[in-house]
Parts: sequence; C-alpha cells; structure tokens
Amino acid sequence: MKQTLSDPPAIVRNETASVKALFQKNVIPSYGRFDLVLSHCLGSSLWDVAGRRYLDMGSGIAVCSLGHANPEIAQVLYDQGRKLVHVSNLYYTEPQGRMAESLVGLIGPGKVFFANSGAESNEGLFKLARKFGHDEGRFEIITAFNSFHGRTLAGIAATGQDKVKKGFEPIMPGFTHVPYNDLAAVEKAITPATAAILIEGIQGEGGITPATPEYLLGLRKLCNERKLLLLMDSVQCGHFRTGKFTSYQRILESVNDRHDFIPDGVSMAKSLGGGFPMGAFWVREPYADLLSPGTHGTTYGGTPLGCAVGLKVLEVIKRDRLDLNAREIGNSLIESLNRLQAKYPHVLASVRGVGLMIGFELAQSIRGLDSSKAYSLQFVNLLQEAGMIAIPSGTNVMRFLPSLNISRADAEEAISILTKVIEKVA
Ligand SMILES: Cc1ncc(COP(=O)(O)O)c(C=O)c1O
Repeated sequence: MKQTLSDPPAIVRNETASVKALFQKNVIPSYGRFDLVLSHCLGSSLWDVAGRRYLDMGSGIAVCSLGHANPEIAQVLYDQGRKLVHVSNLYYTEPQGRMAESLVGLIGPGKVFFANSGAESNEGLFKLARKFGHDEGRFEIITAFNSFHGRTLAGIAATGQDKVKKGFEPIMPGFTHVPYNDLAAVEKAITPATAAILIEGIQGEGGITPATPEYLLGLRKLCNERKLLLLMDSVQCGHFRTGKFTSYQRILESVNDRHDFIPDGVSMAKSLGGGFPMGAFWVREPYADLLSPGTHGTTYGGTPLGCAVGLKVLEVIKRDRLDLNAREIGNSLIESLNRLQAKYPHVLASVRGVGLMIGFELAQSIRGLDSSKAYSLQFVNLLQEAGMIAIPSGTNVMRFLPSLNISRADAEEAISILTKVIEKVA
C-alpha cells in the first residue's frame, strides 16, 4: 500500500511559541522537553510546525516500528474502528485471542495478559512473582543497576537508577539491585525471601548494554536451582528490534545450549502497537494460570482495536522481513559508527548495540561542548539543528532506535548528519 500523506505545504504557520505557551500554562512540567513542536510525519520523517523536516532516528523511543503515518496501520484503525473499538474484558473478542496466540507462537508455550504500557506490563510480572512466592513468604525481586522498568511506584522501585526514585520515598519494598552481567552478584543477593529475577535483555535507558550469553544461561540455571522466576523486560529491546522477536533470542542464536533458555515471564509494550498504546506480558506454561480470575485486570488492555493493530504490525514485519532489515541496516549503521569512532575517538568513545538498538558513547571531554552540562543533551540539540532526532540515554550516551522499516537512504542520511555534527564539535 502506498504512503498517503503528502509533503507539507511550502508555507506553514510557525506556531512554535503559541504551542509552547499552551504547555507552560496547562501541562504538568514532568518532562524536560526539547525545543521542538512537531506537526506531522511520514515514514522516518517528522516535520515541525515551521515546516522543517527531521530524520527520526528515535521512532518515539522504539515505538513506531512501521514508521510514522503508516497507511496499513491507518487502514486497520479505520476498519476495526467501524467494527468494534472496545468492550470490557468481561467478554471475549477474536482479535485479543489471535494476538495472544501470535505472541505465544513467538515466545513459547504459555499465556498472555494485555496491558497498556511497559510499566503496567512489568507491574503484572511483579504481581506474578508475588503470587508465585506468596505461600512460602517469598516476594523479593532482584533487578540490575542501570535498569529501567517504568514510572509507577513499583516500576521506580524495580528500576536500578536512583534518579527516578528521588522525592518519592518511601520506596516500595521488595526490590534489590545488583550489577548487570554479573552472575556471582545475583547469586550473592538471593535471600530466603527472593521470588524472581528481572532483567532487560539489552539495557536501553541504561545506555544500550546487551546481556552476555553466559549471563542469560547462568541466570536460567540459577533460577531453576533456587526455584525463582526468570523475568525479562522486553519493552524496549523486543519486537524484532534486534532481528529476532526478543533480544535474548538474538543474543543466544549462535549458542549451542540456547534451547535450555526460556524465561518464565516477558513484558512487552512500545513497538507492540506500532504507536498505538499497548502492553502485554507473557507467562510460561507452568505459571500461566497463577493470575486466576479476579487477581489482575485493566479496563483498556487488549481492546479489539489495539489487538487488530498489533496483529497488523506483526503481519507487516513478517511479510516485509523487517527482522532482516533490522539486522542489515543495523549492521551497516554500526559499521559506519565504528568507522566514525576510529576517526574521531575524542568525540565518540565507543559504539555498541544489536540490530536497530544502537548506542554511541560520547568522549569524556569534547572541545566543542560545554563541560558543565550533560553532553548527551547538547549533542541531541546539535543533531536537531542539523535535521535529525536521536534519543539521549543518561548524560553521555546517544541512541539510534529507528523504525524497523528504515531505508538504506535514511540510514545513510543519519550517518551524514552525524558526521557533520561530530566535525563541528571535534
Ligand atoms: C525497558 C523498559 N521497561 C519499561 C519501560 C516503561 O514503559 P512505559 O513508558 O510504556 O510505561 C520502558 C520505557 O522506556 C523501558 O525502556
């Protein structure tokens, strides 16, 4: 199907100041927003209200997996919107059943609960862990430093970063944090009250750090031995971003004993609805009925509209082999970034990532940047001025999380804009 949105008109009214004023007066200022008022979009391009185009290498922090204004998503929203948008979860609908079947097919034998966001999907996993350990008095969940698991009270308690907890004390009990990729540290942190271990396959907000195969296999073994649930947060790193449905499938794909690895729970959101708000968690078969009738619920989770969109996103990814695109374009972006890093080591300290989940770390001291402010924010602003949107991660890592159908030409444009900005600050 053809993209339907035309280019913006040559003359548009610049409403930057008036939109910002609306926010200042009426929107709770919990976000540090960039100075950009966006108006419309197409594929990997966004336009601001002044009519300026930006190449979007963030896709809404790994959300718009089929690009912006995707006509097939628009069509399914229209078609399902005229058929059945919402009914309570007191009833059955076919799209929810089919979407659950698809996710089970992609992860493994088990069952799915539908939520609306990543934080809520993780919340479901926390409740699963509590239910699992309840009769033995076990409730603690071990998570990793630098992790990110959402902004609810339990989400910030689970997140291994102090900055999200500040001002919200007392923090909900039951979470302990250990260094990531350190199996011995996890083993040491287990207490008689431990019920589960939760990690991201690739830490996203923590700066794009993939789990090692040994860590994943070691965690599975440890959880088997100590009767713990192994929970994977796939909210950012999942949905074919790495070239496989989940990042742990990709990380383990060339490991011989990978078949021993299957988590007990997986949380998902972001790309699941390609921009339509949607979350889900999958639970492995032996535990899939732990959350029995009356123990968990949500009004909006798994609406026919959301699930019809989710099914379309999966269909397009499969039909267009976007898993392969994520690998191919991801590899070429990483190669180009590595070349830039070798040429400008005093600007780019390192490059890491898998598929289209890519991070590059800025050097400790960069001549053209102000050392009293976070480098990542200054760098994002410079990229924006040059016509590209990228996502900061902490104070000195930048992320590329583009749509899974990004073209080679767009990826080349990203490297060319980045090169110009690097040359400017070098
Ligand atoms: C790994 C991970 N888990 C959970 C979340 C929370 O998702 P949401 O913002 O949809 O609640 C995020 C969001 O960035 C995330 O990256």
